[in-house]
Amino acid sequence: MSAELIDGKAFAEGLREKVGALAATFAAKAGRKAGLAVVLVGEDPASQVYVRSKGKQTVACGMASFEHKLPATASEADLLGLIEQLNADRSVDGILVQLPLPDHLDEQKVIATIAPDKDVDGFHIINAGRLAVGQEGFVPCTPLGCLMLLKDRLGDLSGLDAVVIGRSNIVGKPMAQLLLQESCTVTVAHSRTKDLPGVVRRADIVVAAVGRPEMVKADWIKLGATVIDVGINRLPPEPGADKGRLVGDVDFAGVRDVAGAITPVPGGVGPMTIAVLLRNTLVAAHRNEG
Ligand code: GUN
Repeated sequence: MSAELIDGKAFAEGLREKVGALAATFAAKAGRKAGLAVVLVGEDPASQVYVRSKGKQTVACGMASFEHKLPATASEADLLGLIEQLNADRSVDGILVQLPLPDHLDEQKVIATIAPDKDVDGFHIINAGRLAVGQEGFVPCTPLGCLMLLKDRLGDLSGLDAVVIGRSNIVGKPMAQLLLQESCTVTVAHSRTKDLPGVVRRADIVVAAVGRPEMVKADWIKLGATVIDVGINRLPPEPGADKGRLVGDVDFAGVRDVAGAITPVPGGVGPMTIAVLLRNTLVAAHRNEG
């Protein structure tokens, strides 16, 4: 059997189109565009690529993009001052501070300074708390994107066994909360889990978010399970190549023979993150105007 491929790229395109249409309606009613501010500190090349891509897609969706670049040497006071300014700016609906930050800046303190109702990343503890108790708030973009793909493929998730591998604040923990809200039986596995293959083998839904290339093997997967691969890892280059291949946390070539459906890397979960960010920004804009 060969698994169905879950086409996150196409799904994300569809979502961006919907958001674009709703953003046009918002702009016509409010007399202004919904606005997203992205803050980048330093010159990390991967972060620069993400920030550029976010800016382009924001504009393509008919929203205003505000980019703020600070040098890697920026002080905590500089960064917190900028965030306060964006909190007070009525044309800014969403604020995203690109992570990781340089070591001298305290990520938790920075996130805590963002107004919770502009925290379109869903990283503020107020939004984490809202998610934990089932109140409306902002949900981190990557896990929300994974949930959209799962519901699109499986419909009602109620009663399904879900295993989330990884317990990060950005993906693993909010993913587990979302699946619990959908009435899945949720297990969060991590580096200290005993018999990880045995735990994963019980799952109807597997979400892998550990950052270990091709760790999840075919013989860990129950026949017909739905596998969502959040990992984006670059392998060392083959001789003669200047860049290694991009792979997920799942051994795609093996697992696709056992799973019922699987997200490829690239083209699976990755494109969903920015699409959901744009969706969250539009939701923020409606709340700010309402
Ligand atoms: N760095 C990598 N992914 C993300 C994300 O989703 N949000 C932010 N703010 N930084 C990131």
